[in-house]
Amino acid sequence: MNYENILAEKENGLAVITINRPTKLNALNKTTIQELHEAFKALDADKEVKAIIITGSGEKAFVAGADISEFADFDVAQGGELAAKGQELLFDFVENLSTPVIAAVNGFALGGGLELAMAAHFRVASDNAKMGLPEVSLGVIPGYGGTQRLPQLVGKGRAMEMIMTAGMIGAEDAKAYGLVNHVVPQAELVDFCKGIASKIMKNSPVAISAAIKAINANFTDGVNGYKAEIKAFGEAFGTADFKEGTTAFLEKRKAEFPGK
Ligand code: COA
Repeated sequence: MNYENILAEKENGLAVITINRPTKLNALNKTTIQELHEAFKALDADKEVKAIIITGSGEKAFVAGADISEFADFDVAQGGELAAKGQELLFDFVENLSTPVIAAVNGFALGGGLELAMAAHFRVASDNAKMGLPEVSLGVIPGYGGTQRLPQLVGKGRAMEMIMTAGMIGAEDAKAYGLVNHVVPQAELVDFCKGIASKIMKNSPVAISAAIKAINANFTDGVNGYKAEIKAFGEAFGTADFKEGTTAFLEKRKAEFPGK
């Protein structure tokens, strides 16, 4: 599919989505959010695709935030709608995708950029990456899940400080905070993520998608994560992937998961 502001490629079951507005530091405007929604949806529906990496084009930014020029004159209703629509189309959508999503944070990840990285299932940063939620410096608050996902990842006190100061942290601090899992030189970032993806892709896609749902259940209002886990665990016994995984183990061979 052809997009205006993103690139989407797939090779051997691994997809890479690149946000491609480098002159605007890959800021998320309405078109980009819509295109990301369509790309994630199409790749998630594609049975060949077993993992997705999301990154930004250029050497400077992953995403420098929501596009400020688009919302600077919004009123209260438009502001609420902006956050609700964005969460529905992109941030909640990515978090709840069945296919694993790795954010390769290759530079500035600010505001909506950090919120997008946090919506991904986990994050790897380049050593030059800088992360923050600077919204209060603009007189607004994070609106794409930042006030919820940042405390989940780094703890309430650190999230409070990051959000109140509107400051940026570097990649090593982000790793120490648990915000990113690994820090690697920028030139190696995407290949490093591909290496992790290749390990993921050896496993049962059906079980991985059930595990994503069970982990997310812990963070969903009104859902008991332990009960969700028990249900998904039981259901796994009815899948062809479970039969193949256990049979392959007992036959001392590598599993070839059918993905059903
Ligand atoms: N929305 C819209 N445009 C943005 C943007 C954003 N969030 N972030 C960067 N841009 C644009 C700049 O306006 C500039 O465009 P121009 O060349 O047409 O003037 C271009 O991207 C390059 O950015 P610039 O500010 O010149 O780069 P820099 O290296 O001096 O600074 C940042 C980099 C990231 C520190 C700075 O761009 C910045 O603070 N961006 C906004 C971050 C933010 O508040 N995000 C949260 C939004 S809710």
